[in-house]
Amino acid sequence: MAIEFHRESQTFHLHNAFVSYIFKVLPSGHLGQLYYGRAIHDRPDFDHLFETAYRSMSVCYFDGEPAYSLEHIKQEYPTCGAGDIHLPALDAQAPNGSRLLDLHYQSHTIAPGKPPLEGGELPSTYVEAPEEAATLTVTLADGLAGVTVDLVYTLYEALPVITRHAVIGYTGEGALRLDRAMSFCLDLPDMDYDMVELTGAWARERHIVTRPLAHGVQGVYSLRGCSSHHFNPFLALKRRETTEFLGEVYGFSLVYSGNFAAQADVDPYHVTRVTMGIHPQGFCWHLHRGERFTTPEAVLVYSDRGLNGMSQTYHQLYRTRLARGEWRDKVRPILVNNWEATYFDFNEAKLLSLAGEAKRLGIELFVLDDGWFTGRNDDRGGLGDWQINYGKLPDGIRGFGEKLHEMGLLFGLWIEPEMVNAGTALWNEHPDWVLHEPGRRPQQGRFQYVLDYSNPAVVDWIFARLCSVLDGAPVDYIKWDMNRSISDAYSCAAAGSEQGAVLHRYILGVYRLYRLLTERYPHILFESCASGGARFDPGMLACAPQCWTSDDTDAVERLRIQYGTSLVYPVSSMGAHVAAAPNHQVGRMTSLTMRANVAIFGAFGYELDLTALGAHGQELVARQVAFVKQHRQLLQFGTFWRLQSPFAGNEAAWMTVAPDRSAALVAQYLILQEVNAGYRRLRLAGLDPDRLYRVTRLGSGARAAGQPITACGDELMRAGLVTTDEDPASEGDFVSRLYLLETAE
Ligand code: DGJ
Repeated sequence: MAIEFHRESQTFHLHNAFVSYIFKVLPSGHLGQLYYGRAIHDRPDFDHLFETAYRSMSVCYFDGEPAYSLEHIKQEYPTCGAGDIHLPALDAQAPNGSRLLDLHYQSHTIAPGKPPLEGGELPSTYVEAPEEAATLTVTLADGLAGVTVDLVYTLYEALPVITRHAVIGYTGEGALRLDRAMSFCLDLPDMDYDMVELTGAWARERHIVTRPLAHGVQGVYSLRGCSSHHFNPFLALKRRETTEFLGEVYGFSLVYSGNFAAQADVDPYHVTRVTMGIHPQGFCWHLHRGERFTTPEAVLVYSDRGLNGMSQTYHQLYRTRLARGEWRDKVRPILVNNWEATYFDFNEAKLLSLAGEAKRLGIELFVLDDGWFTGRNDDRGGLGDWQINYGKLPDGIRGFGEKLHEMGLLFGLWIEPEMVNAGTALWNEHPDWVLHEPGRRPQQGRFQYVLDYSNPAVVDWIFARLCSVLDGAPVDYIKWDMNRSISDAYSCAAAGSEQGAVLHRYILGVYRLYRLLTERYPHILFESCASGGARFDPGMLACAPQCWTSDDTDAVERLRIQYGTSLVYPVSSMGAHVAAAPNHQVGRMTSLTMRANVAIFGAFGYELDLTALGAHGQELVARQVAFVKQHRQLLQFGTFWRLQSPFAGNEAAWMTVAPDRSAALVAQYLILQEVNAGYRRLRLAGLDPDRLYRVTRLGSGARAAGQPITACGDELMRAGLVTTDEDPASEGDFVSRLYLLETAE
């Protein structure tokens, strides 16, 4: 791995075994992008890749040199004011009203390792040893404006990963007003790509949508104060012919949980400008002399091994160098959550009977969801005070947790610390702690209001309240929920000129509270949640190693949701539960086996009344629990391959392979049953071509395990695994098949 600077040609080449990223200091002092893609040999210069052309109507940077126009030069961090007339990476207004900025190369440093992001609270990927990565910081400046920009690039040694962010500094008089500060800009030389995005809504998060790039701006964004159900802070550009297994793709993922914009802007000469960062709408940050602003980190992944290659890189990086804490590398406890079992209608006896059954079936963690605190018998009240409801839990949280521990279960607790309901003591005593503009009625969402986390006093108060619940209580897991989009982004604690910073400061406040809690309670496993998966993003993964994927617990819907989520996020991060049938969201009946065979590819649990299952169902659950315990290292930390897309047809399949390729688990799902259908062969992936595997179709509730076959890895990957049904009529719709592969030698 190397980050080279070729002094004579003023060229930077970031390269490892997988990727090359090349840019140079141009004669004008700007940074020109030359190449990003599969690794190529290093050479002292790549000047032949620099191109510009005379285009009518464009402005030229040097008098008398009409072909040297920044509008037509691929750049690393363009601004307005020096001839580039596209959407810029940086837009700032000087005290004199000028928006003109012309950033020139000043200096650079190259150092081993990867420092945390300046400023403290923004999450980012990290290294555990300096040899794992190298970091290049290029400083640009505009002397007249008093603006500096540090462009920070980290190249990982063993992964096709480059992270980027920018730090903007100000040394002038008065205040510089930042209106747009993107995390990175990348100008690619053509537009022959499909854009892949993760799009959805509540209960159908992160569906994969693919569209050909067209001229103009296309992209995804959130203005909801959270990353949102609607669009994930991710986009990819893949070549038209790229599949799950083959071909080139560039992934762009933002380590951020608030408002974001991610876009590809294609100019008439087919140059594709990709930018990603905090959404400029409503954003405004004032920098005074000596102050600096750090953008969130973007993670750029290049793959020439198809979409699976891109995803596997994200999985590895996010699981091992973004997630952190004691739980990062540990298999996750199998949980039962009482939400869909009881909703708000519970008392301790009911919970303990559910817990008792869970324990009997081998489940390890009992999660008490919403409704354990005063004023909370439905979703119209109670949020904010965090006072235990002794009517429901006579011995409090501590007593209830101790009872669970005595039963041999871990104890998990739900909180929603960013919200407040009207009528609570917090609401009455601190009306100014609610995001709203004085004199204007704030908008409700799920009957609740948003606390002003941009105000450190609010975060400190909530932290102290939560500590008074958690200190001394035997809590092993916390589900941190967040159930509404943010409106009324006005802080009573901030000056008028600072209101444009409120939403960014809000999310920094969320990160701070996570940090305070995880530092104080390092043994607690955190699961983030936002009305299902409205904040399933890399920023949250840095705080909590798992996230509730979706409120849709139907197995068929989950195929698409989990398949889409896996484009970026590792299996170990996806909360996935077996819920009741008929399903509470879609009313669909699916077998317990189908439900479990989908949920085991996640942080596995149950969310139904186990006491109502009957002896047969309970026996099946006990078997499922035992199976997950036996295979969860492979399920949660194996290399995940998508094989068949549920977005493409009636079938879906995926598999996970042990790091040493000695074992694998394959799942195939048939959504609607077919009569007299064609033969089926599933081509597997990621196996050792030279090893012999014993392949066993696992049994389920209704069917016994099949007779194992043996086959070489190459056979299974090229000829495929026969999955034709012998007796479709006995299986009905929503069928799952699970195969265990073990090396036969
Ligand atoms: C939304 C979450 O996604 C659910 O799992 C549940 O915790 C409810 N909130 C509780 O209000």
